[in-house]
Amino acid sequence: MEIIIQPTAEAATKIAARLVAGVIREKPAAVLGLATGSTPLRLYRELVALKLDWSRLTTFNLDEYVGISPQHPQSYHSFMWDNLFRHVNVSVKNVNIPDGLANNIPAFCESYERKIFSAGGIDLQLLGIGTDGHIGFNEQTSSLASRTRIKTLTPQTRKDNAHFFGSEEQVPHHVITLGIGTILESRHCLLLAFGKKKARAIAEAVEGPITSMNPASALQLHSKVTVCLDEEAASELKLQDYYRWVFDHKPGWQKI
Ligand code: GLP
Repeated sequence: MEIIIQPTAEAATKIAARLVAGVIREKPAAVLGLATGSTPLRLYRELVALKLDWSRLTTFNLDEYVGISPQHPQSYHSFMWDNLFRHVNVSVKNVNIPDGLANNIPAFCESYERKIFSAGGIDLQLLGIGTDGHIGFNEQTSSLASRTRIKTLTPQTRKDNAHFFGSEEQVPHHVITLGIGTILESRHCLLLAFGKKKARAIAEAVEGPITSMNPASALQLHSKVTVCLDEEAASELKLQDYYRWVFDHKPGWQKI
């Protein structure tokens, strides 16, 4: 894992944006795995400002709530169109977001997996992290080999996401999420985390044992992971100084 610690979320986002822009410029028909939540909002604004060509890109979103329509203001469909897709020249037919209203959820999940495979696999998977270490909506004790499927949110995640819905009662209980096994098959994972409330989850994911009690710790099994953090999210890492030294002394030929 490459751990990049920056003084602020703004600075960490700028580095993440450079990385994503690099992938898009190098491979105009790349397949991007996209995330929602408050963490990637600034990154999406940066990417919009860069005026990149999205016309040949294919995107797959990580997750969606079950039982709410794509038009619901808190659906991840709405989130993605409001915060990114409407502002870039992405082709609607290349955008994939799990269907929270699918009649047959297992069949939908299988077809989502097949679509990722047919698109050639995900080149760059963007990830946030929950306060308990979840990635996508792979809650604690998710199988580290899991595929796209339905999951039930924990009370903690429903509490954490209540601010989007106005109240906890309105947060759906069920979601569709890419599995951890699916995420691990992407060629490069970019994990972003900002703020003190993510510090414990990040320390456990990066330096703790690989355990389904912190689903992000499964990323230790992946050969190419970049983690962009602000000071607060990095504050519980034991090897902070080492990570800073490594980043400050990267050979010029090594890309982010
Ligand atoms: C949700 C999303 C995750 C996201 C997490 C953290 O559970 N499904 O993909 O990483 O929230 O959200 P935030 O970035 O708002 O802290």
